[in-house]
Amino acid sequence: MPIRRISSKWAKTEALLASAELRGLVPNTRPFERDTVRDMLGDYGMIYVKPVNGTFGNGVIRLGRSVDPDESYTLQAGEKQLSFPSFDEMYDALLKLKRPRPYLSQQGIELLKQDGRRFDFRVMVQVNPAGQWETTGIIGRLAHPRKIVTNYHAGGTPMPMETLMKTHLEKAGRTIRGFRTELSRLGVNVASALGKRFPGLKEIGIDIAVDTALKPWILEVNTLPDPYIFMRLPDRTVYRRIRKYAIAYGRFRRSARASAKSKRRSAGRN
Ligand SMILES: Nc1ncnc2c1ncn2[C@@H]1O[C@H](COP(=O)(O)OP(=O)(O)O)[C@@H](O)[C@H]1O
Ligand SMILES: [Mg+2]
Repeated sequence: MPIRRISSKWAKTEALLASAELRGLVPNTRPFERDTVRDMLGDYGMIYVKPVNGTFGNGVIRLGRSVDPDESYTLQAGEKQLSFPSFDEMYDALLKLKRPRPYLSQQGIELLKQDGRRFDFRVMVQVNPAGQWETTGIIGRLAHPRKIVTNYHAGGTPMPMETLMKTHLEKAGRTIRGFRTELSRLGVNVASALGKRFPGLKEIGIDIAVDTALKPWILEVNTLPDPYIFMRLPDRTVYRRIRKYAIAYGRFRRSARASAKSKRRSAGRN
């Protein structure tokens, strides 16, 4: 079966919501509409609006509402930060900025920060050669100082999870190892839920936010995840295993030389 790519964030979010175990870890997500944006800003104080079929953090916008001392609104996109005295003015600016394609609104999660930069995690889960889902990589991504997305393509910096979480976990009396296990299990649960809905799936990359109470939230699931980010980890065995599993299910092509050689060999065998 060919490698599948599911681009709609909707389809993937629905698959997660079908799981009783995962439902509570998915930020409230709705189709983009004026009333929804206003209601969600009232409920959560901060939301993200993003393209249903987006990638690389492109087109992602963060909206905020504060009522103290006066009602005001903020909009952030790229390195732009704007403030408005009313919802209507903010919404007009939003419509001008937004690309003319389907968007969704999502409850905003206050990401943990390091030196004022937000960070979240990418968790890679693959079908292993024994045919079971296995979490094969976890890496942190530290956002560019003035940006609201952590994507590598938007200037984010990949970093070991330990570096980013050490002090946060220590303060909470928790261990790196325990946290790693929590993210790994979550990864496998997400993969099983998605695999049920989309048979043939072999690998996923989950964007996981951790809020200030250290609760993990599933921001999105990628079905054609970038394996190369894991080359940035000092532990080389992580990328090597990712590559090995991917070759086994046919995602990577072997080098042209290696495949010419093996073609010659199998031609000889015929
Ligand atoms: N609901 C949210 N709360 C907090 N941060 C978010 C939220 N949604 C997205 N982000 C930030 O924006 C980044 C890009 O959003 P994402 O949904 O992963 O879209 P893309 O497909 O473009 O990567 C995330 O990695 C995260 O840093
Ligand atoms: Mg993403």
